[in-house]
Amino acid sequence: MDKFLIEGNGPLSGEVAASGAKNAALPILCASLLIDGELNLSNVPDLHDVVTTKKLLAQMGVAVASPGPGLFTADASGITTCVAPYELVKTMRASILVLGPLLAKRGHAEVSLPGGCAIGARPVDLHLMGLKAMGAEIELEGGFIKARATRLKGARIYFDTVTVTGTENLLMAAALADGETVLENAAREPEIVDLANCLTAMGAKIRGAGTGTIVIKGVANLHGASHAVIPDRIEGGTFLVAAAISRGKVRLVKTDPNALDAVLVKLQQAGARVSTGEDWIEVDMQGRRPASINLHTMAHPGFPTDMQAQFMALDCYAEGVGTIRETIFENRFMHAQELLRLGADIRIEGNTAIVTGREKLTGAPVMATDLRASAALVLAAIAAEGTTTIDRVYHIDRGYEHIETKLGQLGAKIQRVK
Ligand code: UD1
Repeated sequence: MDKFLIEGNGPLSGEVAASGAKNAALPILCASLLIDGELNLSNVPDLHDVVTTKKLLAQMGVAVASPGPGLFTADASGITTCVAPYELVKTMRASILVLGPLLAKRGHAEVSLPGGCAIGARPVDLHLMGLKAMGAEIELEGGFIKARATRLKGARIYFDTVTVTGTENLLMAAALADGETVLENAAREPEIVDLANCLTAMGAKIRGAGTGTIVIKGVANLHGASHAVIPDRIEGGTFLVAAAISRGKVRLVKTDPNALDAVLVKLQQAGARVSTGEDWIEVDMQGRRPASINLHTMAHPGFPTDMQAQFMALDCYAEGVGTIRETIFENRFMHAQELLRLGADIRIEGNTAIVTGREKLTGAPVMATDLRASAALVLAAIAAEGTTTIDRVYHIDRGYEHIETKLGQLGAKIQRVK
């Protein structure tokens, strides 16, 4: 199992490019199951979750290839099975995204029921509720969701909780359904818009993606398409926090500043000078200690839960006391215990962390517990005195493309050891 050895050092500086967005690439790869023809993607990040999705599609008989860096092709015409096995679903919950497309295109699907995970229970009841409303018959048997439908029918579906992959699953299913589907209280994340744009390029009829109401007019067939995946706002946001926590100056390029509004506001409140251009963001915290910030996580356009851990790391070094409230997942403070090992002062009360900033933290052995928690540990280690060893970095490899190279390029001393 790989580890990271991180030696805390001075301010980070320089330029780094955002990779393609994991959370856009995964649903879009699954959308290849909907079409007659080939899907050609660019800006696909080189991540473990993408490799898992590729395996998932390949074992169904989808012809998948990566003809060059960032490129990906998929052709599902030779599909042989509509099963997503436990071995793959247990390593990546986003495997549930094959359910809607398989059901809509092939009329049946068997997807291993994702269990709970490190950050909470994470049910998929809303995905199933929506598919049932569209006429699917669904049974849970032997740990599998077994779903059938002759042709899905358009329906009006209201989500009582905003769900990102739930919205995506139903958006894909509705694209091939008979009639009109209206998704109410839909997720508004930029990744939903990217999926909708790709589906539109495949011939889908979609209005309102990026708002709380999405209207999809089902079509009989979808065709091959080419699409470039949007930049990863969470990866990019992580590099911007790295600039702030190390009191450095970093320019993030190949990004979309509009997708990062909530994060940039918090960086400004922490005292960073933030400037933006069409496709770049610069964060300058040189010579200043960050000020504590308060935040609570919300569905987009609120502050993203996927950036909560990184800002907790920032608050650990900030001047003052910050409160961080997690409202999306019930158990997403696993990083707090590890940050304490570096000497942080964090008190957890229910879904709120109260963080008293310290002038310095010191390196220690810590363990990554989930994807974004591991990112927080990397950030805290970069600013700590001495050496931090981070165990179980496979969590970070799921969602960050070559993070040690990218942070190394900014001056961080980070080394992968096998
Ligand atoms: C997606 C993202 C993940 C991000 C999360 C919240 C992907 C691949 N992953 O995860 O990085 O942290 O959005 O922004 O895009 N819920 C239900 N029933 C359901 C579905 C969800 O109660 O059927 C609840 C969840 O338990 C959670 C909340 O809804 O409390 C939001 O979860 P959801 O948006 O579905 O997260 P994911 O789509 O799994």
